[in-house]
Amino acid sequence: MFLCNSPLLVCFSLGFLLLGVAVSQISLGSNLSVVENDFWVSSNGDFACGFFNNLNQPNQYQIGIRFNSKSIPDGEQTVVWVAGANVRVSNKSYFEFTQGGELVLFDFLQGVTVWTSKTSHLSVASAALSDNGNLVLMNSSKDVVWQSFDTPSDTLLPGQILSASQTLRPLSKSSVSSYYDLQLNVQGRLQLRWETNISYWTVGGQSSSNLSAVLTSDGALQLLDRRSTSVWSVFGEDHDDPLVKFRFLRLDADGNLRLYSWAEALRSWKSVWQAVENQCNVFATCYLSGVCLFNASGSHVCKCPFTSTAESSSECLVPSQLGCDSGSTLVTYDHTFLYGIYPPNDSVSTISLEQCKTLCLKDPSCTAVSFTNDGIAQCHTRKTRFITGYSDPSVGSISFVKMCLDPVAAFPNLSIFSPPQSQLKRSYAFSGQCLIGALSGTLVTFVTIQLGIGFCFYQRRSFYRKKAALALRNPNSEVLLMLSYKEIMDLTGNFGHHLGPNVFKGMLPNNQPVAVKGLKTSIEERKFRASVSRIGGIHQKNLAKLEGYCCESDHRFLVYEFVENGSVDQCIQDPKLSRRLTWRKRIDICLSVARAISYLHTECREFVSHGNLKCENVLLDENLDAKVTEFGLGRLHSNTLDDTAENDVEGFGKMMVILVTGQTEADDVCKWAYKEWISGHAEGIVDERIEGGVDSEEVERLLRLAFWCLQVDKRLRPSMGEVVKVFEGTLTVDRPPPPFLCRMPLEEEEEEED
Ligand SMILES: *[C@@H]1O[C@H](CO)[C@@H](O)[C@H](O)[C@H]1NC(C)=O
Ligand SMILES: *[C@@H]1O[C@H](CO)[C@@H](O)[C@H](O)[C@H]1NC(C)=O
Ligand SMILES: *[C@@H]1O[C@H](CO)[C@@H](O)[C@H](O)[C@H]1NC(C)=O
Ligand SMILES: *[C@@H]1O[C@H](CO)[C@@H](O)[C@H](O)[C@H]1NC(C)=O
Ligand SMILES: *[C@@H]1O[C@H](CO)[C@@H](O)[C@H](O)[C@H]1NC(C)=O
Ligand SMILES: *[C@@H]1O[C@H](CO)[C@@H](O)[C@H](O)[C@H]1NC(C)=O
Ligand SMILES: *[C@@H]1O[C@H](CO)[C@@H](O)[C@H](O)[C@H]1NC(C)=O
Ligand SMILES: *[C@@H]1O[C@H](CO)[C@@H](O)[C@H](O)[C@H]1NC(C)=O
Repeated sequence: MFLCNSPLLVCFSLGFLLLGVAVSQISLGSNLSVVENDFWVSSNGDFACGFFNNLNQPNQYQIGIRFNSKSIPDGEQTVVWVAGANVRVSNKSYFEFTQGGELVLFDFLQGVTVWTSKTSHLSVASAALSDNGNLVLMNSSKDVVWQSFDTPSDTLLPGQILSASQTLRPLSKSSVSSYYDLQLNVQGRLQLRWETNISYWTVGGQSSSNLSAVLTSDGALQLLDRRSTSVWSVFGEDHDDPLVKFRFLRLDADGNLRLYSWAEALRSWKSVWQAVENQCNVFATCYLSGVCLFNASGSHVCKCPFTSTAESSSECLVPSQLGCDSGSTLVTYDHTFLYGIYPPNDSVSTISLEQCKTLCLKDPSCTAVSFTNDGIAQCHTRKTRFITGYSDPSVGSISFVKMCLDPVAAFPNLSIFSPPQSQLKRSYAFSGQCLIGALSGTLVTFVTIQLGIGFCFYQRRSFYRKKAALALRNPNSEVLLMLSYKEIMDLTGNFGHHLGPNVFKGMLPNNQPVAVKGLKTSIEERKFRASVSRIGGIHQKNLAKLEGYCCESDHRFLVYEFVENGSVDQCIQDPKLSRRLTWRKRIDICLSVARAISYLHTECREFVSHGNLKCENVLLDENLDAKVTEFGLGRLHSNTLDDTAENDVEGFGKMMVILVTGQTEADDVCKWAYKEWISGHAEGIVDERIEGGVDSEEVERLLRLAFWCLQVDKRLRPSMGEVVKVFEGTLTVDRPPPPFLCRMPLEEEEEEED
């Protein structure tokens, strides 16, 4: 048995090696050359080592290891290791396993050795390309003293270990290496980074250090501690599929880390997991080519909304405010988040949208601001012209870019989704003026070096990929999960757990419980997506959070945070829970709902009605605090007349009556309650089960407010803001006129306004 006193990591890979069948021996003095186009092949034929030209440039060759299996056609024989990563040599160059036991790459044109394995002192006696794609050098006692697995390029093969401080870096087709890398740092964090100091994806590192990362042969990426126990893992969607013969993990040129499997049926490599679910969230994914968004077919594209792309096809700089004789203005980019890439000189302050805009206009160094509000208003100030970002209807932030004021033309709000051409040209004309002279030589270099790097295709999302995405989700991020119908079925266990009519309990891959609401299949996709994007950006503590949605062929689902105790009407009918609904609790529920609806009506960027406010849509969490759900969907239902603030107020009135009386037949109970109240029997309508008694003054106030909300003449109904004030005690409430008995507003005339 093989004994090992070196670090466990090495033992692990040696274990793999020793398990392999016979390896093809490479003897001292063997030689590969560009001219001969010869190879060293592993004994199973799966891998080959030799020269290749993947650079689309004549007379530039690299030497490395690629797949060689007969079942993989020529064009798909992916390179998995390159000697010296970005080292290139000319024709007539050669790669020699010298008599001294060293691998040497000799460039014919320069006449020098450009890369060596630096093993001349290790008594190397033989070499082999092993069956798992590892090129190894051994001494006479068959111990491995050097292996290609220890100097990874952009790829990890199954069994290959990435140990602390090692990195993967995308192979560059240009002469400058990629800005992206994957590093396992000494704290045990596996990170995707840009420019080595900005990390945009991180796993591990909670408690353990000295970890290693490995791709297992059954298709999982794992972080192992020193005892080879997995402390973190992620699985490809075909994990454990015995039909998959080949796999690899690669950091692609677009900065995303992907797990690939050989799909025999498709005769191609298939991505079965990717680290950053949404390519637009890879830092600087568009670099200087503008703002990242998804086009109609779901591919991410980079669009330049700042300058005309006709003049400068790849640079997309925000205009400089320098030299704006006639002052500056802000151009609005809705549903867009912008950030600076060079130099990143951002600052964040907690101020309102208006203050944020003023701040930028007044600060001569401010070039752009992004404003986000998910409960806390945040103004992100940018002071660089090298700005990129992402844009999507589901992105809740709004951005402003400073432009020179055009004394003639006004700047209407630009839409990134369909930029009006004439406006783009005009804004470029001005930014062009501002730009000249601002670019120094070094900046020009910086701008152009990345251009050669192409983007890899974007794969369809998968449920498994979401595991990592979810585990990592920044609580401040406003990204909605886009789920397929199959994923909806998976997470609800085939709709096995009903919560209510067309509502099912489910579990996201990160074990977060959710409520999945099925909607009418006839809802137009465009309308559905518009609504989702509107409500996805709304965050308030008494509104149930929308986590995701499914919009696939005729399936329409909304995925909300799960709220423990069900709806208000269920709680009232439940003997155990209803006892916990004290008078104080019922008042609190009313106030929370009023605040949430008032927030919808007045504090969102555009007016949002609830559209269907009723007890069934007010959920109670473990503390019986209210969470309003299914808000903002009014426009999805054909009756747009329901989509008004007054209808929400009426629904709220009914809910108050139900909470006071404990009866759930809203229309009958309103009628009865009004009759009793007007004849002076208010105390007789209060729910007898309320423990600890009620405050009769509060009962009176609540009923008055309820009957104001239930007025048939909608103009008499209070606004939700006024309702909140009554609860808070800053507004008194008079006796209401007769509400004409709480009937359903079926045959009413169209109202004048929202
Ligand atoms: C290896 O091949 C190159 C080019 O074919 C040749 O110049 C060189 O001498 C060879 N080396 C050995 C050790 O055969
Ligand atoms: C090798 O490169 C030189 C210089 O670029 C070129 O002139 C020559 O044609 C190339 N030879 C082959 C066989 O490609
Ligand atoms: C081979 O390498 C191993 C590990 O480095 C070493 O312990 C052993 O002594 C070497 N054997 C010879 C014959 O050099
Ligand atoms: C990141 O590193 C680059 C190059 O080393 C440097 O220019 C840049 O200022 C650094 N950025 C941050 C945020 O530290
Ligand atoms: C990590 O491993 C190295 C060598 O194996 C050791 O010297 C170091 O102390 C370890 N660090 C920690 C934090 O365990
Ligand atoms: C979306 O972008 C991809 C990649 O650039 C392109 O192939 C596709 O045609 C685009 N689709 C639409 C509808 O524009
Ligand atoms: C970045 O901000 C710091 C501190 O606010 C400032 O000193 C520095 O000059 C700024 N750099 C640039 C390039 O604006
Ligand atoms: C531009 O957008 C802002 C904020 O969304 C809005 O207040 C303003 O009216 C819009 N201007 C135009 C011309 O549409």
